[in-house]
Amino acid sequence: MSDILIDTAAGVMTLTINRLDKKNSLTQAMYGAMADALNQAAADAAVRAVVLQGHETIFSAGNDIGDFLNGPTSTLESPVYRFLQGIAQFPKPLVAAVCGPAVGVGTTLLFHCDLVYAGDNAAFSMPFVNLGLCPEAASSLLVPQMMGYHRAAEALLLGEPFMAEAAMEVGLVNRVVPPTEANAVAQAQARKLAAKPLSSLVETKRFMKKGQTSLVLAQMAEEGASFGRMLREPAAREAFTAFMEKRKPDFSKV
Ligand code: COA
Repeated sequence: MSDILIDTAAGVMTLTINRLDKKNSLTQAMYGAMADALNQAAADAAVRAVVLQGHETIFSAGNDIGDFLNGPTSTLESPVYRFLQGIAQFPKPLVAAVCGPAVGVGTTLLFHCDLVYAGDNAAFSMPFVNLGLCPEAASSLLVPQMMGYHRAAEALLLGEPFMAEAAMEVGLVNRVVPPTEANAVAQAQARKLAAKPLSSLVETKRFMKKGQTSLVLAQMAEEGASFGRMLREPAAREAFTAFMEKRKPDFSKV
């Protein structure tokens, strides 16, 4: 079965991250599949909203760490950037359902969604510093903007996780529900949107994002250049190797 399930019904395209044995971590192929699906959803008049969801126990463990270690050098043409640029510029409503851990890009992608519904087991984290990396997906811009600088510093410098209620308090999450209901709630909200006039949805979203999108894309490109360089540096290599070897990283020499 595919690692990204794609289903369209009642004007809603639903993308389900489906790689449970690896905690829904995202490979280049999965980013590519989601980027292609978003392009298709943007172009298809029959799709009026998109839902992005995982499993009730895990949203995503972030980027596949094996891909980080062994994958090709990422560029702005890489599948991951095609996906990130796709969600940043997606013209129609994007709704997320998040349960369990949402690590790295599992959290940063949510700042590009229009509505986010979380299971009460959702745990958000952006541990880029702990991995010898820097923020991506324009999170260094969007996280302080939404959460305020000091809360953003806890999340991005310390890499400390925060739970569903805290995410709702800062405005990242619209509603906290039992994990078994999160996907259904997101689907119901997306279907409500899909019943509305598409041109009004698109214009309203465009006006809400106006001015911001160019800043987001510029920040994303700048972060991407640093992130790509840092992936090859000793701190990140130690962090990834330690994860694969199931030990704590030793940053004393980097
Ligand atoms: N990339 C590749 N494989 C991953 C992964 C990732 N990001 N996250 C988890 N996995 C794999 C594990 O290696 C393990 O594989 P194995 O069964 O072959 O040994 C399997 O998924 C289960 O993971 P495990 O860590 O045992 O599950 P857990 O329930 O104890 O913890 C997480 C879940 C998400 C908290 C934990 O897996 C984690 O922290 N993952 C890394 C997150 C991360 O740093 N991502 C990068 C962000 S930029």
